[in-house]
Amino acid sequence: MGFILAAAGSAIGLGNIWRFPYVAGESGGGAFLILYLGMVFTIGFSVMLGELAIGRAARRNPVGAFAALKGGAWTYVGYMGVLAGFVILSYYSVIGGWTLAYTWATLGPLLENTDTGELGAYFSDFIADPTQTIAYHGLFMAITIAIVMGGIEKGIERAAKFLMPVLFVMLVALCIRALTLPGAWAGVEFFVIPDWSRVNTETVNAALSQAFFSLSLGMGALLTYGSYLSRSERLPSVAMWVTSLDTVIALLAGFLILPAVFAFGYDPAAGPGLTFVTLPAVFAKMPGGGLFGPVFFALLSVAAITSAVSLLETVVAYAIDETSSNRKPATLAMGVVVFFIGVPSALSFGPWSDFKLFGKTFLDLMDYLASNLLLPFGGIAIAVFVGWAVSQRMMTEVFGGATLPARVWLWMLRTVAPAAIIWILISGL
Ligand code: PFF
Repeated sequence: MGFILAAAGSAIGLGNIWRFPYVAGESGGGAFLILYLGMVFTIGFSVMLGELAIGRAARRNPVGAFAALKGGAWTYVGYMGVLAGFVILSYYSVIGGWTLAYTWATLGPLLENTDTGELGAYFSDFIADPTQTIAYHGLFMAITIAIVMGGIEKGIERAAKFLMPVLFVMLVALCIRALTLPGAWAGVEFFVIPDWSRVNTETVNAALSQAFFSLSLGMGALLTYGSYLSRSERLPSVAMWVTSLDTVIALLAGFLILPAVFAFGYDPAAGPGLTFVTLPAVFAKMPGGGLFGPVFFALLSVAAITSAVSLLETVVAYAIDETSSNRKPATLAMGVVVFFIGVPSALSFGPWSDFKLFGKTFLDLMDYLASNLLLPFGGIAIAVFVGWAVSQRMMTEVFGGATLPARVWLWMLRTVAPAAIIWILISGL
């Protein structure tokens, strides 16, 4: 139970509540949703099981695990994962900082407003202010560093056990409010009725990237968590629990944000501001919204922190194992480096907003690099590694032998997952 909640704590975060609704909105809604669900329960589930198995079999960080189980060029897969950890955490912490800031802001007059024009302007002004975005990014990193310093069980599991269920209950309450707003139904239709004409390589690519990002796959975060897991745990049920919980939270966020977008006349394709602009309007329409608002953003911050902890933990586990340094100095050093890499992302909607590469701001570029390239590449590597390089050992690790489910799983990892990901990546490029 503790482990499932900790792993779900890694998976459930800004990816579900901030990223999923806006990517679904940009990608046309219903058709994206079906593609997403399909990928989560085939490729996503199989790769997650593979990552957990590698970690538990090797009992090491990603780099050490690939080196111990096979060595050679496989070790670079581990390095790629650690690199992805740095990149993702650097901008993840910036968005995490936004949620901390909104916890504070929603205590004030922000929640008296349902005008998405004004709420949008507030949001744009806030993310353009370098002092605030950098300060909150720093605060978010400081909290994450403090938790990772405390060691894995004490810090993470205790917090996750209590706070994740509270977040869930609040999401359900908010969904009910959003769904009963006048005009909300158009959002539900947008979200669940597929418009297949909207499907193109970009939509498919977005669904795959979102699946990897949301499930924390492809960079060794769950591999690292798996390395702390006891032999008696049944990995398939752990993976199924984590996949399902993560999906439920994403769906709830979809049924909250998208109906609100339509009810308040906002643009579903408005991008990364979607959650931050529409949620305050929902709170404003709720009895007790003034209390709900800050509590919800506080819980979202907690969900973001439990994910950030898994990102930092991956990098730190590598530093501890491979350079035999102590946990505290290693965490501090890695955390400070991540903070500095994140500064350009914090500036990317303000002073650095003119800097664009391939039409993307620095933060978008980091997100694209990590979610659309590094994570899917990591996913292929993990699938091929488990499916071909160490398949016998992994079948025993997970299923105790070559049973039927074990063979179906291997078949997914050997052929379906790599072929699908490669095809999606190539057509995306
Ligand atoms: N899965 C997290 C989320 O949805 O917010 C983000 C994340 C955590 C991605 C850990 C990758 C990772 F390794």
